[in-house]
Amino acid sequence: MTTRPRTPAPGTPAPGKLPLPELAQMKQRGDRIVMVTAYDAPSGRIADDAGVDLILVGDSAAMVVLGHDSTVPATMEEMIILTRAVNRGARRPLVIADLPFGSYQVSDEHAVETGVRFLKEAAADAVKLEGAGVMLSRVRALTSSGIPVMGHLGLTPQTATMLGGFKAQGRNAAKAVQLYEDALALEAAGCFAIVLEAVPAPVAARITASLTVPTIGIGAGAGCDGQVLVWHDLLGLYDGKAPRFVKQYAELAPTIRNALSRYAAEVRDGTFPEPKHTYAMSDDELASFEAELAEVRTPTEF
Ligand code: KIV
Repeated sequence: MTTRPRTPAPGTPAPGKLPLPELAQMKQRGDRIVMVTAYDAPSGRIADDAGVDLILVGDSAAMVVLGHDSTVPATMEEMIILTRAVNRGARRPLVIADLPFGSYQVSDEHAVETGVRFLKEAAADAVKLEGAGVMLSRVRALTSSGIPVMGHLGLTPQTATMLGGFKAQGRNAAKAVQLYEDALALEAAGCFAIVLEAVPAPVAARITASLTVPTIGIGAGAGCDGQVLVWHDLLGLYDGKAPRFVKQYAELAPTIRNALSRYAAEVRDGTFPEPKHTYAMSDDELASFEAELAEVRTPTEF
């Protein structure tokens, strides 16, 4: 029998990739799931090296990378470029692409076209969408087309205006019940995990206990099966006040600013570059170079 290299079948995870069903098993075992956002290849590589399980290419990119005031302006083209870049850096983590506003609201068909683009053009492993209600039909359409879907409930930034701003959700009994029912409905529709954002900790814990798929919390307490933070928040790349649910594990903005100031000062005073940062040339070659230049016609001779 001859052996030949096997080409993985379409939809086959890349070698070394965390298998998607492992997430439900992690929940059963009580192993916490680590998710972080990332938006480029170096960040994808660093998150992978750090042992992160899931990378979300969040539409928060619109705010933290592209400088918009909300996530709404994120476009398909931008999200596809960023997702593809993250994928070039990350190997083991599952890479989840956030469906940008307008790319899945109109119809199930449009949502499937969008999901297909993320899987084919950006090599995303899964997609995330916000909300329940009419979105349950989108989840069913996507999952029955073979596109894994992560849900997102609570503070859903794409519809923050309708929610009254970037504020915690589910803080009264009726709203908490609605969140609970939405989470169960998203699981029944086929979501493999659900992000709970800015939800009271006891509500998130109760939802988590009632689901077989994992919950990933952001501002939803320690009772979730995993946690997610936005790259720039976690690393302190902002000077402004972070939301209360953010824990900064580094303060990189001052470090970066300091490095850039030193660079600027050294360029201006001529101490950078030093000889060790430049390329040498043999004395003979340099002499020939000068000799040949002496032969070169000056511009006025043309
Ligand atoms: O876009 C994003 O970064 C997100 C996370 C906050 C969950 O949706």
